[in-house]
Amino acid sequence: MSIQADRVIAERTAKTIYLAGDCAVKLFDKNYPASAVLSEAQRQALASECGLKAPRVLKVEPDDGRWAIWSEYIPGITLWEAMKNAEDITPLLNNFVDLQMTIHDAELRDLPCLHEFAAHKLASSPLDSVKRYELMNILENMPEEKKVCHCDFVPWNIILKNDNPDDPYLLDWPFASHGNKDADVAQTFLTFNIYGETKLAVDYVKLYAEKSGTYLRGILRWVPVLAACRLASEHLADKKTEYNILEHFAYVSNLKI
Ligand SMILES: Nc1ncnc2c1ncn2[C@@H]1O[C@H](COP(=O)(O)OP(=O)(O)OP(=O)(O)O)[C@@H](O)[C@H]1O
Ligand SMILES: [Mg+2]
Repeated sequence: MSIQADRVIAERTAKTIYLAGDCAVKLFDKNYPASAVLSEAQRQALASECGLKAPRVLKVEPDDGRWAIWSEYIPGITLWEAMKNAEDITPLLNNFVDLQMTIHDAELRDLPCLHEFAAHKLASSPLDSVKRYELMNILENMPEEKKVCHCDFVPWNIILKNDNPDDPYLLDWPFASHGNKDADVAQTFLTFNIYGETKLAVDYVKLYAEKSGTYLRGILRWVPVLAACRLASEHLADKKTEYNILEHFAYVSNLKI
């Protein structure tokens, strides 16, 4: 590696994030598809160029056969760390929902279509064919919107710049798409559940519905569809617990919370 790193910020499957001067460098493993790296960088750049608080993309380049995305480094703690340290997370959860509503209403062009992506994933989901057909029908009948959906909107993808709760930056844009904002909310709900944060999942989705004036049942209708889509992901092969949680949600047809 030729990157002059000061330290490792985070290590993930197939990628490592380094601090190098005032840059954050996301270095992907050798076999990581170039198309996925370039697509992630493009979506992040689109977001920051349209005025959303996403770290600016500075360059994307190969480093010893591996792709690296160089971004502006945002100093601070994640919203998740702030939540863990807070006695009462209510104000932070409110900020979280407010930020998500801001993203949904942003003007951002050239994003892929969430509906099409979901249909594609659903088709390769490892569910029995009856269930898959039922969920495909539900997806087809879902209203298609063109809202900005980050699709991985979670507190550990938000940095509070200089620890200031009023200055949040949103990271991690590889799945950002145009779609129905209820689907984006259902994704966050599912992710909280996967991480064992079941109470937070319920508190969050209720707060989102209340603040945005959205019909809660409309959001929950997306949950089995998206759980089934996520079951198609290759990285679940060695993640039995995550697989079981997703399978559970894929089969709940009338989710009540
Ligand atoms: N531009 C940045 N400025 C500051 N910290 C960053 C930046 N990019 C990444 N990080 C840190 O690295 C961590 C992982 O980065 P990121 O979320 O982009 O990686 P990921 O592997 O794609 O995500 P995940 O952890 O959601 O799987 C973040 O939680 C954050 O702490
Ligand atoms: Mg992340």
